[in-house]
Amino acid sequence: SFQVVPQRGFYHCFGCGKHGDAFSWVMEREGLTFPEALDLLARQAGIALPERRERPKEAVDHEERLRTVLDAAQAFYQQELSRNTAALAYLKGRGITDSFAREAGFGAAPDAWDKLVNHLRRLDISADLIEQSGLASRSERGTQIDFLRNRLTIPIHDARGRLVAFGGRVLGEEKPKYLNTRETPLFKKGATLFGMHRAKGALRDGALVVEGYFDVLQLQQEGLAGVVAPLGTALTEEHLHQIHRFTKRVVLCFDGDAAGRRAMGKSLRLALPLGFEVRLLELPSGEDPDTWCIKVGVEAFREVLRKAPDWASFVVDRALDGKDVRRVTERMEAFRELQAFLPHLPNSPETRELLASLAHQLQVPMSELDRARRAVPEVQVRVPMTAPARVDEATRALLLLCRAGHLAQVQAAPAAWWEGLEGAPVLQALLDAEGDEDALPAELLALIRGLEAQVSRRDELDAALSPEPVLGRVEAQFVDREIRTLQRQLQEPRVLADKDLQGRLEGRLSGLLARKSQLARQLRALR
Ligand code: UTP
Ligand code: MN
Repeated sequence: SFQVVPQRGFYHCFGCGKHGDAFSWVMEREGLTFPEALDLLARQAGIALPERRERPKEAVDHEERLRTVLDAAQAFYQQELSRNTAALAYLKGRGITDSFAREAGFGAAPDAWDKLVNHLRRLDISADLIEQSGLASRSERGTQIDFLRNRLTIPIHDARGRLVAFGGRVLGEEKPKYLNTRETPLFKKGATLFGMHRAKGALRDGALVVEGYFDVLQLQQEGLAGVVAPLGTALTEEHLHQIHRFTKRVVLCFDGDAAGRRAMGKSLRLALPLGFEVRLLELPSGEDPDTWCIKVGVEAFREVLRKAPDWASFVVDRALDGKDVRRVTERMEAFRELQAFLPHLPNSPETRELLASLAHQLQVPMSELDRARRAVPEVQVRVPMTAPARVDEATRALLLLCRAGHLAQVQAAPAAWWEGLEGAPVLQALLDAEGDEDALPAELLALIRGLEAQVSRRDELDAALSPEPVLGRVEAQFVDREIRTLQRQLQEPRVLADKDLQGRLEGRLSGLLARKSQLARQLRALR
């Protein structure tokens, strides 16, 4: 019931009644705004959009201004902390040393209505900008007041280590315990992992995901690397994708209470389909990583972390928990709960053992469990796990370019230039991993290293070191392919019958022909 009419550039769904063009399709499917959809489609079609440079530049400038405001606030909060005895005593009481407090950037929001706002205004920062940075809210009388008041402040950074927001904790028992400054163009809660910028370098050894600010900070202070936490929301798929770029191994450690166990189950259901090797660290009831690490000491904590069991027994225990397996309905329910997890069980002797015990407890035949295990899991790994049989010359040149330190230029080039090529999955994986070898499947890394080893000719080495000629040649080849496709299309009866379409294709063809000779000139000049 879904129809696409390429000649007229639209689709219609007779099922739900939706229709539109390529733009509305991409907006709807990918959740993009119109400008973003425009960008995406232009990239796919290899069309540059120079005239839109202004908009992004404005946005970039705006972000820069927001950063200036946040930085000024950070300096203010840190200055405030140095004379706030209650906040200093609070940090001390939680075992945070002075030097770590400085390193982590703790600060204090004073117990006043508008001290920060006034400070920022004195720095000539406009009320609008203060508002947009998330640092202020409106009082009932409509005046601007500090959003965080009488709280310990904790700076929140993005993965690149840039300050994007603040968390604020009460010093006592008041509610709410924590507040985060509002979402802004710089700060999206569901896409920000607290501690990521410090953890990044250590993530190749696996990530430890905990629940709260102080869990991350306390463990960091104790020298445990690779610790991150979501910010008061559940762990999202976006969070997991970020971790996935660095490591396939996570340990989830949530608080030792019912809510913590629920969160653990939810996160597990998101993480397994992404291909993560998940282990779970359950703490005694009433403890969190922060309190537990203080209680047992960091060495003992490392030890429990090292020994954290994989997820299987947790899932089985939870499915059986509170069920009377003598009753067939409850056995069935436990089985249903387990079904989604079964396909993710690794092939190991432990798994056989677990399945045998399950078969016994649930009184289902082994064959039934095996069948459920074979149900295709929805693995949605972004990085291809197998290397293509052959890597074409153009992709090879781009790969070498990336490896020679020009990854950013390759990333900036339209993907349409290389997307259709045989070696594209390898390049895609390298770009996804942002060049980080540890984020690449071993097979692909070996393949790339093999290609590098083949570069022996001096001229090829020089070429690999300068992006212009390589990118120029790749684009020229792309343009040639496009020209051939268009020339073919222009012969098709459906095109000949549609003057409009013919005109558009011819327009594009002449654009491409012009680009072709331009590129040829440029490449000659570079030689
Ligand atoms: P917890 O309530 O488990 O607190 O919240 P915690 O991290 O152990 O806090 P401390 O140790 O008492 O300081 C876990 C996380 O949930 C978010 C915060 O990110 C917190 O770290 N949260 C919690 C909020 O955003 N608002 C709240 O009111 C409470
Ligand atoms: Mn805590």
